[in-house]
Amino acid sequence: MNGPSPRFGSVDPAMQEFLTLLGVDVTYVRAEENTLTMLADTGEEIPVIDYAGGYGALVLGHNHPEVVATVQSFLTARSPILAQASRQPAAEGVITRLNGVIHREFGTDEAYHGVFSNSGAESVEVALKHAEFDRQLTIRELLAEVEGHIGEARAAAARGAALPAQDADAGIEALIARITEVNTSVAARPPLFLALEGSFHGKLVGSAQLTHNADYRTPFAAMAGAARFVPFDEPERITKIAEEERAVLLDLRVDADRIRVVEREFPVIAAFFLEVIQGEGGIREVTAEAARTIRQACTAIGCPVVVDEIQSGMGRTGAFFASSAIGLLPDYITLAKGLGGGVAKTALTLVSGARHRHEFDLVHTSTFAKDGLSLAVTHTVLDVLEAADGAAYRRAAERGERLKELFGTLLADHPGVLRETRGRGLMLGLEFRDLSDAPAPRLAEAARSGLLGYLLSGYLLRTHRIRTFPTASAVNTLRFEPSIYLTDAEISALESALRDVCAKLGAQDEAAFFGP
Ligand code: F0G
Repeated sequence: MNGPSPRFGSVDPAMQEFLTLLGVDVTYVRAEENTLTMLADTGEEIPVIDYAGGYGALVLGHNHPEVVATVQSFLTARSPILAQASRQPAAEGVITRLNGVIHREFGTDEAYHGVFSNSGAESVEVALKHAEFDRQLTIRELLAEVEGHIGEARAAAARGAALPAQDADAGIEALIARITEVNTSVAARPPLFLALEGSFHGKLVGSAQLTHNADYRTPFAAMAGAARFVPFDEPERITKIAEEERAVLLDLRVDADRIRVVEREFPVIAAFFLEVIQGEGGIREVTAEAARTIRQACTAIGCPVVVDEIQSGMGRTGAFFASSAIGLLPDYITLAKGLGGGVAKTALTLVSGARHRHEFDLVHTSTFAKDGLSLAVTHTVLDVLEAADGAAYRRAAERGERLKELFGTLLADHPGVLRETRGRGLMLGLEFRDLSDAPAPRLAEAARSGLLGYLLSGYLLRTHRIRTFPTASAVNTLRFEPSIYLTDAEISALESALRDVCAKLGAQDEAAFFGP
């Protein structure tokens, strides 16, 4: 028996209700390239063009033949999937190959070390933990230096060196006690993370605090390290936030026969996180100029730049790393989604040699991370992307240009309905104008409730067999993230569908979207 029963629990009941409300609660039974096959109530199988692309995971489309062949031969050969705590040359191989890609795209020879995990949010958690681990070790090193200097000052005081005027009466031990008390309290400060407004970095305990949407973040704020959000168009604000949050440790210096108290910068900000093309936040691109400001500000305050390429990476923007196009060399990179070729659930956090803490992988592991099957799939993903001198990247760029041209034409033809198109390669957004004040009451109500994008998605699916969704935190923007195998015919089908949507919205034909 199907359907919920009072005696049995159900899966995500609130989400299921929402999908039903929008008319997108369909079942898919097959998937290939850009096509998902939907099962109608009649039993008929109906092809749907998939522009949602598994939330960006399907750079290579559904069930890519080479990925499928890899999985099949891996299983046929009875290759080991779970052989933790052994030598895993396939894991080393992925890191070596990705270092090659980094060196080529960024023009650096920095070595990046890797920690594997199982999902996008998990790779962000790894970055959070590594950044805090690094900060704690830095604090420990700083305090050890201060301890050494205290010893030197004590010896100097015994030889008769002068104390600062305010401490002269109380003596060296009172001065040391004062410094130690201040340092103990400062050293206990929790980390602060920075992220851009509009960012989405996942929904686990730590990563949810870097996700700007308050609905996902604030109920869980007490559970994890705090973040401050930098306005998207004002990256220079990083410096001001750093000044507001600044903390110092106290240290002692012996110069000739004088003992002085000096301040040492304390690392409050553990890391700055950003997506160079925000996905869930509405497909917004960070400019090369903003990237320079971010890099300079973070270098000045000594905090690492974590570039979240979970959605933008793996080739969809015309290069493996979207950050390479704006010249932002990351200290950390998070990868997931397309790394698993649309089949495996795998993720990776890369940390530059300059930042990497050798001891970290002893304190962070996961049962399923680095499993043999996922690694084999990732090798195949890299084979496909890197084949023929990067033909896949060129294809993503070219298909993206075609789609962007289409959106540009639609914008010119329907300026009253469409507002803007954004993005690069096959990570594009098309923003509709806010219809909150539209004459058609039900359209206006949907827009006011943040449901316009979902309403359009439902219509596109039911009427045109096209699957896309709004970006969840920028609800008037539809996202388009098809695979690199997108065909001209699929682009034409999208064109007629969107022309129809624009015409109906322009005519305030709300019956088309809601029924009479
Ligand atoms: N970072 C980015 C940039 C993402 O787009 C996502 C997920 C995550 C992290 C979290 O990854 O879901 O594997 O834990 N984005 C989806 C979206 C949900 O709507 O684009 P996850």
